[in-house]
Amino acid sequence: MKQLRLKLRLTLPLLIALAGAPAFGQTGTHPTNNPPSMMREQAAREAFIDKLMSRMTVDEKIGQLRLVSLPAGSNPDKPKFMDDIRAGRAGAVFNTVTPKDIRVLQDAAMQSRLKIPLFFAYDVIHGQRTIFPIGLGLASSWNLDAIRQTGRISAIEASADGLDVTWSPMVDISRDPRWGRNSEGFGEDTYLTSRIGAELVKAYQGDDPAARDSILAMVKHFAAYGAVEGGRDYNTVDMSPQRLFQDYLPPYKAALDAGAAGVMIALNSLNGVPATGDKWLLQDVLRKQWGFKGITVSDHGAIMEMIKHGVAADGRDAARLAITAGADMSMSDTMYGDNLKPLLDSGRVSMADLDRATRDVLRVKYDLGLFQDPYRRIGRPENDPPDVNAESRLHRDAARQVARESLVLLKNQGGVLPLRKQGTIAVVGPLAKSQRDMMGNWSAAGRADQTVSAYQGIANAVGGQARLLYAKGANVIDDPEIVKYLNLYEQDVDVDPRTPAQLIDEAVAAARQADVVVAVVGESQGMAHEASSRSDIVIPDSQARLLRALKATGKPLVIVLMNGRPLALGWENDNADAMLETWFAGTEGGNAVADVLFGDYNPSGKLPMTFPRSVGQIPIYYSHLNTGRPFDPAHPDKYTSRYFDAPNGPLFPFGYGLSYTRFELSPVTLSSAEMPRNGTVQASVTVTNTGQRDGATVVQLYLQDPVASISRPVKELKHFEKVMLKAGESRKVSFTIDEDDLSFYNAQLHYGAEPGAFNVYVGLDSEDVKQAGFTLR
Ligand code: NOJ
Repeated sequence: MKQLRLKLRLTLPLLIALAGAPAFGQTGTHPTNNPPSMMREQAAREAFIDKLMSRMTVDEKIGQLRLVSLPAGSNPDKPKFMDDIRAGRAGAVFNTVTPKDIRVLQDAAMQSRLKIPLFFAYDVIHGQRTIFPIGLGLASSWNLDAIRQTGRISAIEASADGLDVTWSPMVDISRDPRWGRNSEGFGEDTYLTSRIGAELVKAYQGDDPAARDSILAMVKHFAAYGAVEGGRDYNTVDMSPQRLFQDYLPPYKAALDAGAAGVMIALNSLNGVPATGDKWLLQDVLRKQWGFKGITVSDHGAIMEMIKHGVAADGRDAARLAITAGADMSMSDTMYGDNLKPLLDSGRVSMADLDRATRDVLRVKYDLGLFQDPYRRIGRPENDPPDVNAESRLHRDAARQVARESLVLLKNQGGVLPLRKQGTIAVVGPLAKSQRDMMGNWSAAGRADQTVSAYQGIANAVGGQARLLYAKGANVIDDPEIVKYLNLYEQDVDVDPRTPAQLIDEAVAAARQADVVVAVVGESQGMAHEASSRSDIVIPDSQARLLRALKATGKPLVIVLMNGRPLALGWENDNADAMLETWFAGTEGGNAVADVLFGDYNPSGKLPMTFPRSVGQIPIYYSHLNTGRPFDPAHPDKYTSRYFDAPNGPLFPFGYGLSYTRFELSPVTLSSAEMPRNGTVQASVTVTNTGQRDGATVVQLYLQDPVASISRPVKELKHFEKVMLKAGESRKVSFTIDEDDLSFYNAQLHYGAEPGAFNVYVGLDSEDVKQAGFTLR
């Protein structure tokens, strides 16, 4: 067995934590070498907060820990809540989203005894007014520059609406497509998710969190929410420490290293302990090991939910557990407000706990610049946008650019795509004209009526050059009980009263007249949402029947998928001529879809999540272990790790996506066959566009440690680069592999690289790869 080489990973953050209080303007994790000016700023901040806290009553401190949801519009709780603000019984508000509405609340805070400003937060997940593709779509672009731009624009738009904080990025790794919240995250891979999360944090927060157009990022949901059992939302998470540290925690850590101001705590329990009351997670890992000095907020009602989790006897017990574990703010429950005072009086919670949490809240407000100017982002009434939904406030160009990069071409048989802008095109399907679904879930302050549907995008593209026919063809889903469920809190699915047969007949009639059929099918946005787990991941029956009827017409069939999770697309893949995965592509989604369908943009997206053949293969992910009896398709033995009724492999692997051109990779060359300690090895390939069109692709580098002290994945993504190549052009792409890329948490949770042989795989997806190898000395 190899010798383990220990690195300082676990102890270094501890040293950082001991090194002193945070730098001004960085509430998250902190650089070790703070320049003197920063140290001075930081001392000034702490002195300011000390002084303020010395004037605060216990009630006012408790008030700071209260985070209230206050949607605009008629809200019966508003008068009471206004009183609470004036009495200093609130620390922050979320879900109020215009400068005018926010100002009223801040005005009330300015009438409180100490005039401590509120901060204002919102779920700005993939855009504020301009809606960008959902998380899975952004991840499919593999374009960090484009993703950074979405974050920057989100911050500009959100801050212009008076907001200070976003509950984003969501970096929960998930390997279970049944979970509805896959749509919000960046897929199954630790490295890709970490890179994206870090970019978004930097983009939201900018160089100076106090800047008028910066908002603070709160990474969520800490921790491992994406691993809920059975993909059922809010369910239990149970996970080995190795998997937790190796695969699930790094994206949160990456966001904090990028400076994220805060952490939203997950709703789930982890190995039996609800995260909201998990001292180990919130203090030992987050604060001591990682050196985090920012703010933690509970998720919606999560403190109270510890009663149902079975770890708190009542609300008082839940509040005690949460505050002593390290949950600073309580979101949307009254647990802290109702219970902290008696808990302090009885000595079951210490003043130190209350002070620590209060200080974390005040520090965020200080860093946001709110003590200097509580209206920093709200602005003055005379500058309020006359129309918050004005077209001029949108960033359509950027939305279209990133949306087209987020589309993944899954199949293109016989070159049916790109379509020509001529003849007759039948556009069918219940999602074809949907503007609401195109935005996706958590669409912040985006508006459906400003969103370009797939049909509209196609119409815009063809102008008068082709004849377009349209038929709805099916309802998204026929089951009335499911429709009722999806429409419970907001109108998600509109039901056409015609019978399924009538709808299909109309679509078939349109298809018969057409040269090609474009079927826009999949899920409504609400089907891939919080509280929207599915036990099956196929296209709903109503739409599957429509597809079969369209296929029977014999016309070329192009399936445009809209969905927020990997789907099982066996029949579709066997029968469609082309398939384009478009996720929920945002405000400019329809134009982006048309750009790809007609070849005005050559698709370059790559899947950030494995597409299974069936739900029975879940969990399925590319970075699995080999097992002692791996299945070998070349020698399909019985007593090997396999299903006897289905292949092991996915329908579409992680990293997969086609182009209208062809790319070829040279063999991998390494700068050396050996890597010295603390050294590097360069891996290079030449990628050539051998087709007729310009296009972009993603060169992906994976590593494998084939013999280690614990079983290691068959491959793990460690580097990637998106490259744009003209037809016929070649480019050398080089990646620098270092020891960190080879490191992992061993059975004792020590992090380090073990000497010996390593395999390097480079490909344009995770399966079709070229191999090389080197040795770490
Ligand atoms: C509950 C969700 O789990 C979380 O992601 C979100 O940020 C909060 N609600 C606030 O809307």
